[in-house]
Amino acid sequence: MRILGIETSCDETAAAVVEDGRHVRSNVIASSKDVFARSGGVIPEEAARRQTECILHVVEEALRGNNAIDAIAVTRGPGLLGSLLVGTTTARALALLRKVPLIGVHHTLGHLSSTWLGAETEPQFPILTLSVSGGHTELWHRTSHTRGTLLGRTRDDAAGEAFDKGATLLGLPYPGGPSLAALASTGDPHAFDFPKPLAKEDTFDWSFSGLKTALKYFLRDNPQAKREDVAASYEFAICRHLTDSVSKAIASHPGIGEVHLVGGVSRNLRLRSMLKESLAHIPFRIPLDPSFCTDNAVMIAAAGEFLVRERGETAYGTFETQANAPLASVILSLH
Ligand code: KG4
Ligand code: ZN
Repeated sequence: MRILGIETSCDETAAAVVEDGRHVRSNVIASSKDVFARSGGVIPEEAARRQTECILHVVEEALRGNNAIDAIAVTRGPGLLGSLLVGTTTARALALLRKVPLIGVHHTLGHLSSTWLGAETEPQFPILTLSVSGGHTELWHRTSHTRGTLLGRTRDDAAGEAFDKGATLLGLPYPGGPSLAALASTGDPHAFDFPKPLAKEDTFDWSFSGLKTALKYFLRDNPQAKREDVAASYEFAICRHLTDSVSKAIASHPGIGEVHLVGGVSRNLRLRSMLKESLAHIPFRIPLDPSFCTDNAVMIAAAGEFLVRERGETAYGTFETQANAPLASVILSLH
């Protein structure tokens, strides 16, 4: 199938055409990151206004040379409601006009599908996927695209939020994750010891809010500490917390075929190398292109394809646009 994907859950306006869930025919993203860099974060009303202005141009650009499509897949949630509505309203109208079916995709299923894009070999289930972004942090054991179990999730902040809030404490510009990673790249990750959250619990879950608080007090009490070293040590603590849960999950789930790392934070080089190192012989994949890690429409089109393959006609069922689309409604669960 050739699917047009549309994604507008946060401050991006994205459209893409993907064939068979793997072959990227077009990938267009209009980002307002530069605009929100000045305000220090996304202003929801402003994001939706900008998305309204550019969605038709973005879709038109994605369809250029790829006009024949079999279906449209759109992010139905979670995200900022005004932003989501720009995407779903456009997708609904286009589907009616072009007389093609419409597929509502949970944003998380999009991220989970991002490792298939452009892949030369088909990933092998069962797959352990660590999905880390500004909105969520989850560990999935998947037996197919849309079936699996949620092994662990964050109990408070997402990993991306830990980066973003840490960056704010260090006085770094928005978006915080990349700025903190850039500062950390020249620092010593073992200079300071930040806590290991939930270390005494038998769980795959995470908790990042204590790390952020630890950084806040560390900066207050050690104003002379080298900022590069503080950033690197804080980044290391986040990555160690993430990697430890994956190692535990591998030990308790024999026969894992591959480990995947997806979502905006999968761009982080320290996380990539620490996770890869901890896996030994198990094949490891990240999205092939950095633009497939952060929010994009290619992954939504791919997820649409997999929903149709595994759920048949029900993939085309009616859906609501939901700011808090629950995980249980998305995927999966069940073995
Ligand atoms: O997936 P994404 O684009 O949007 C959400 O669904 O949240 O992820 C954005 C998150 C932000 O928190 C951003 O700071 C983080 O990903 N991020 C990074 C890096 N690049 C983006 N965090 C750490 N290191 C990076 N290099
Ligand atoms: Zn995302």
